[in-house]
Amino acid sequence: MSNSTTNTALAASFFLGAAVSFLVSNVINKKKTSLNRTNAGATMEGNDLSLYYGDISQLTTVTQSRKFLPSEVYGKLVRDCVVCCVDCLLVRTSKEGKKECLLVLRSSEPVKGVWWLPGGRLLKGESFFAAAKRKAQEETGLTNVTCIQVLGVWNTFFPTSNWDTDTEKGTQTVNPIVLVELNDEGADVKLDDTSEEWRWISLDPEEAIQNGEDKYVVQGLLRLQAWNPSYNR
Ligand SMILES: *[C@@H]1O[C@H](CO)[C@@H](O)[C@H](O)[C@H]1NC(C)=O
Repeated sequence: MSNSTTNTALAASFFLGAAVSFLVSNVINKKKTSLNRTNAGATMEGNDLSLYYGDISQLTTVTQSRKFLPSEVYGKLVRDCVVCCVDCLLVRTSKEGKKECLLVLRSSEPVKGVWWLPGGRLLKGESFFAAAKRKAQEETGLTNVTCIQVLGVWNTFFPTSNWDTDTEKGTQTVNPIVLVELNDEGADVKLDDTSEEWRWISLDPEEAIQNGEDKYVVQGLLRLQAWNPSYNR
């Protein structure tokens, strides 16, 4: 073989090697991405974690009086028991094609005056999705929504609540965050009296941290990003 043929062969094998290692590292990276996604702690799309031990219609049809307690009983429950509250990471696509989520400025304790996710107590007979849909409707007036999945569950401890007495204060809630998508992008937000203002923010958790958003909001965004890194785009 002439020198130049050897050089060509060497160059060819070098490029072949480089191409193979590029492909292999791509496959490994893809695998890493999908592993990250399954390990993100978020549930499967469409799954709201309900398990029914019996006839669904009988388990989920509960009279009004069994959903709501007399206020003195409910106050005691808030102070001395753990309450489940379902919150919505409510996402729309802006006119510019950017995905963003809704924050509301809370008007009562806990976290009064904090920009938070809309949501509230899970009533007896409700699935997480049913509660998320109802809370989106009640607190933000947005009715044309689709619940996608439960992003995660947080255990939150608050030093004050709306039901504090002179001697007993604070509350603890277990909060599933449900990813909820708005179907009609032009819909107007109409707040009820649980919050005072609203705004839409980017889904980028880094941006949320820089803007000083509350840690709970950041947690929801981080989980969304971990579950589906391309959801934002
Ligand atoms: C919800 O929004 C979608 C998309 O804009 C629209 O096609 C559909 O008719 C709406 N549904 C209701 C019940 O308003």
